[in-house]
Amino acid sequence: MTAALPAGVRIWTVVILQPQRLPLLADVTPLRRLSHPQPPGRFYIFQAFRQKRWQSQTPGVMSSGTGRIHVLGLGNLGRLFAHELAIQPSPPPITLLLHRPGLLEEWDEAGRKIEITTEGVVSSSSNYDVELVSRQPRQDEIIENLIVATKTLNTVKALSSIKHRLTYNSTVLFTQNGMGTMEEVTNALFPYPSSRPHYLASVTSHGVYTLRPFRSVHAGLANVTIGRALFPGQLDTNHSSKSKYLIDRIVNSPGLAAKEVDPKELTRLQLEKLVINAMINPLTVIFDCKNGELFDRGSIVHLMKLLLAEASQVIASLPELHDDPETASRFSTQKLQSIVLNVVEKTAKNTSSMLQDRRAGRPTEIDYINGYIVKRGKELGVECKVNEKLIELVKEGALESAALASLLGKPP
Ligand SMILES: NC(=O)c1ccc[n+]([C@@H]2O[C@H](COP(=O)([O-])OP(=O)(O)OC[C@H]3O[C@@H](n4cnc5c(N)ncnc54)[C@H](OP(=O)(O)O)[C@@H]3O)[C@@H](O)[C@H]2O)c1
Repeated sequence: MTAALPAGVRIWTVVILQPQRLPLLADVTPLRRLSHPQPPGRFYIFQAFRQKRWQSQTPGVMSSGTGRIHVLGLGNLGRLFAHELAIQPSPPPITLLLHRPGLLEEWDEAGRKIEITTEGVVSSSSNYDVELVSRQPRQDEIIENLIVATKTLNTVKALSSIKHRLTYNSTVLFTQNGMGTMEEVTNALFPYPSSRPHYLASVTSHGVYTLRPFRSVHAGLANVTIGRALFPGQLDTNHSSKSKYLIDRIVNSPGLAAKEVDPKELTRLQLEKLVINAMINPLTVIFDCKNGELFDRGSIVHLMKLLLAEASQVIASLPELHDDPETASRFSTQKLQSIVLNVVEKTAKNTSSMLQDRRAGRPTEIDYINGYIVKRGKELGVECKVNEKLIELVKEGALESAALASLLGKPP
């Protein structure tokens, strides 16, 4: 049987009479479940793969390890990244990391596949391994490449459960909107550079929404920019070879339309997206409107200018861009305003993600958007009173007229 397999890959089929004793097999990982879940006491069949070394058939994409990519956060963005990697002619091995037992049931109900609908066409992928991260005893297999696609506010909690599997040789890609998660993860989980994974970040302008578990619609076809991440505490990015494999894999997935940029350019793009989100998201929450309805009123435009002026001043003071000749022109209040208005026009009919979260009663990501501007402002001695007030009002669920009056310092 093994003669037909690629060199270095061996397969064992193991029949287990007592599924509760399965953790004893944790050393032959990952385990791929072949049969549908059975009631306790019935037969479970597993295949255990041990891959000594995996090499892609895709030119230019090489891994020094197994090449496996783990995905944490199986919502819209996690599904899109996993699916686009999985439908490649020679896909990498991919493990979906499920954070709660209910997701395992949902995965079975979804036919153990991810479906992405693009312009009415359904594309599905099923070549995944799945793993419940809370399984006991805990898994110890080292994670070489990880894509984090949880919401920003769940990042530290999500990574805590697999921290022991990430090493200096691991690469972690943060795909989320907003900024500040890498600093949080570093302080909470990887304070020592010698054991800290290599960080990548991406700016994603695709638009994806959920139909049901493991089913999403890729509604806004756009692009991804990816690169090595610069952030306070990690201004040195001498990591190129270690994280190249994951970057190449993503750049070679046509559906993601991804390109690699250098760390400084990635920081600039992250900040541009941060500012766009810091204007459109909270203001659409306060005024409970679609993006395109925002700037019909002069008072909101005035408010945006105040918010932008604070953001612009913070960005101009950032040490990570201090020797950057482009910062002043690219992040002037006027330049930022034209970028925001341009996005508002292009997404006029959209409901912002923060307004969707608010309407669904979910916490918003504002602490990683306007909150990041305020936090960096405090560190650098730049006052950001209007952004600070806006965060408070969004969290309080303030009504439009009171909010506007409070932000502009006038009676309602
Ligand atoms: N959707 C887009 O079009 C888009 C585009 C660009 C950027 N983004 C950004 O990408 C990030 C993810 O957005 P999304 O739309 O994909 O959100 P989402 O659909 O809500 O997905 C987040 C996923 O994370 C899971 N999760 C929660 N806690 C977790 C934990 N402790 N461990 C592992 N997984 C956990 C959630 O599971 P539960 O089912 O338990 O909640 C959910 O499946 C956000 O920062 C967003 O702003 C999204």
